Amino acid sequence: MKKYYITTPIYYPSDKLHIGHTYCTVATDAMARYKRMQGYDVMFLTGTDEHGQKIEQKAKEAGVTPQQFVDRVVAGIKELWKLMNISNDRFIRTTDDYHVSAIQKIFKQLYEQGDIYKSVYKGKYCTPCESFWTETQLVDGKCPDCGREVQDAEEEAYFFRLSKYADQILKLYEDQPDFLEPASRMNEMINNFLKPGLEDLCVSRTSFSWGIPVDFDPGHVVYVWVDALSNYITALGYQNDRYHDYEKYWPADVHFVGKEITRFHSIIWPAMLMALHLPLPKKVFGHGWLLLEGGKMSKSKGNVVDPVILADRYGVDALRYFLLREFPFGSDGTFSNEALISRINSDLANDLGNLLSRTVAMVEKYFDGTLPAQQTSAPLDDTLISMAASLRDRYEAQMEKFAFQNALIEVFTVISRANKYIDETTPWILAKSEADRPRLACVLYNLLEVLRISTGLLLPFIPVSCEKAWAQIGATSEQTAWDTLATFGVLPRTVSVTKGNTLFPRIDMQAELKALETAQAASQTAEPESQKAEPIAIDDFAKVEMTVCKVLACEAVPKSKKLLKFQLDCGEGVPRQILSGIAQYYKPEDLIGKTLVACTNLPPRKMMGLESNGMILSAEKDGKLNVLMLDDTIPVGSKLC
Ligand code: MSP
Repeated sequence: MKKYYITTPIYYPSDKLHIGHTYCTVATDAMARYKRMQGYDVMFLTGTDEHGQKIEQKAKEAGVTPQQFVDRVVAGIKELWKLMNISNDRFIRTTDDYHVSAIQKIFKQLYEQGDIYKSVYKGKYCTPCESFWTETQLVDGKCPDCGREVQDAEEEAYFFRLSKYADQILKLYEDQPDFLEPASRMNEMINNFLKPGLEDLCVSRTSFSWGIPVDFDPGHVVYVWVDALSNYITALGYQNDRYHDYEKYWPADVHFVGKEITRFHSIIWPAMLMALHLPLPKKVFGHGWLLLEGGKMSKSKGNVVDPVILADRYGVDALRYFLLREFPFGSDGTFSNEALISRINSDLANDLGNLLSRTVAMVEKYFDGTLPAQQTSAPLDDTLISMAASLRDRYEAQMEKFAFQNALIEVFTVISRANKYIDETTPWILAKSEADRPRLACVLYNLLEVLRISTGLLLPFIPVSCEKAWAQIGATSEQTAWDTLATFGVLPRTVSVTKGNTLFPRIDMQAELKALETAQAASQTAEPESQKAEPIAIDDFAKVEMTVCKVLACEAVPKSKKLLKFQLDCGEGVPRQILSGIAQYYKPEDLIGKTLVACTNLPPRKMMGLESNGMILSAEKDGKLNVLMLDDTIPVGSKLC
C-alpha cells in the first residue's frame, strides 16, 4: 500500500491556540483525509513543543511547575483538535520519555562524530535576573526584564556545525527545486541566509533548566529547536522503542509549516538530517499567515480570534471550509467576521445547501422519495454531466499542489452549474405533465449524481456534513469512494432519498456580527485555563497569616528600580522590615502612615542584600497594580480571617 507521511508543526503550549494555529492543522487534516480517500496508508502527526525558557517563565507566573503548566495547556489543545475533527494518527509531546531519551542519543551521536562541539557563547548578562541575552533581545541596550544595565558575558555552550552544510543545502535546492514551496520561500532562504553564509548554531543553554538535559554534561539543556524538529522522526520510533514506524514512513512526504518557521525546516532540519546520515523530507510547504486588519494576531494586542467561539456558533465544518476556501494556502490572508459569514452564506447555505435541499425535496414531492427507473435524457444534460465526470481530475490536480482554494472553487463551479441546470430544466413545470415524468426523473437523478460527486470530493474539508448529505441522497460509502468519483451514473436509477435537516442554516449578518463581537471580546478578557488557580483546601488557606499593619517608614532601595523598603508596625512590639517590588507604582512618601495588609508567616528572603520578612498584599489587573489599603478603624496586628 502506498504510504503518505504528513506533519503539522508541533505547537507551543504557552497560550491558548488561536484561529491562525487552527488554520495549519485544518489544512493538514484536509490533506491527510484526501490521501486516505485515495487509498494511501497515511500517518498524520501533530503534537506539542513543550520545552524552553518561555514555558518555564509562564509556569512561574502561574505558580505551578513547568510540567503541570504544559499538562494543563496540552489537554486544551487536544480538546481543540477533537472539536475541529482533526484526524491525526499520532500526537507527540516533547516531554514524552521516549522523545527525551531519543534526543539525548541524537545529541550525543552528533557530539561524538564532531558535528556538535563545545565552545563559548558570547552575550550580555543581567546579574540580578541571572539571564543571558543577545544584543537583539535587549531593550534600549538594557535587560528586557528589569531594565538594568547588562554586562558582556560568556557561557560555555555546544554548537552545531551548521556552516558545514551550507553548500549541500544549496545543492539540494538546485537538484530538487520543489523541496521548498511556494518558490518565493526558497528564494528568500537562498538570498537571506544561504548566500550571506551560515554560522554555526548554538544548541545548548545553561541559563534555564526546562529543557532536555545534555546527559553527558550536567547543567546544559538542548536548544529547543533541535529538540522540536527531531519530533518528526522520534514520533515514528527513531532512537526509541515506543514506536516502530520509522522505516515505514520516513522520509515525510510533506511538512506543513508557517512561513516564519520555514528557515528552521528548510535549512536547520535538513542539515541535522545530513549530519545524521538520514534521508531528507520530500517537501516543506511554508504557508501564509492569517492576519487581522490591524496586522498579526497576538495575545498582547488582545486581538486573537478564538476558533472555539466560531465553531460553536457556525459549526466546525463551516469554519474548516472557510479557512481553506477563503485564503490561498501559500499567501497571507486577512480574517474578518464579515468574510466568514458571507462565505458560509454564499457557498454553503446558498449553493450547496440549496442544491441539496431543493433536489431532495423535489424527489420526495414528485416521486414520494424514490425515482422511477424510466428516465429520459436530453442534450441539455451533457454539459453538466461532463463537468461532473471530469471534476475529480481537476480537483486532484489542485490538491496535489496543496491549492485547497482552487480545488474548492472547482467543486463549487459544478455545484453552481447544477443550480443553474434546475432553472434551465424547470422541474416544477415538468411535474405538471404526466408525459414529462421520465424527463423529470432524469433531471433529478442528474442532480443527485452531481451531489454525490461533489460531496464525495468535499469530504476532506467538511466531513460531517458530507456524511449527512449522503444519508439524504441515499449514497453509500462505496458509492462515494474515490474510484467512483470520476464516473457519472453510479447511484442506482431508482435511488431513494430521505429529507434531513438543513446542513448550513443562513446567518443573519448584521445580528450575528454584533453577537460575535460581544462573544469575542468576552473571550479576550477571560482568564486562560492554564492560569486559573486550582482549588485549594480551606486548611491550606488557613495556613496563610495576613496581618493588618501601619507603614512607619518607606524608602527606595538604592540601585533598584523595583524595590521599596518598608518598616511596618504589625502589632508585634518591634517594626518588621518588608521589601516590595512596587516602586514603579508608588512614591515612598505617599505610603507612610497608610494601613496595609501583609503576609507575615513567609520565611525571610534576601533581595539586593536586604532581608525581607513578609509580603505586602496588592491587587493586579491588566498591568495595573494597587496596594490593598484599609481605613484606620482596623487596629494594627488584626489577623485577616
Ligand atoms: N513550536 C514551534 C514549531 C516547532 S515545529 C518542529 C512553533 N509553534 S507555534 O505554536 O508558535 O506555531 C505553530 C504554527 O502555527 C506555526 O507554523 C505558525 O506559523 C502557525 N501560526 C501561528 N500563528 C499563525 C497565524 N496567525 N496564521 C497562520 N499560521 C500561524 O512555531
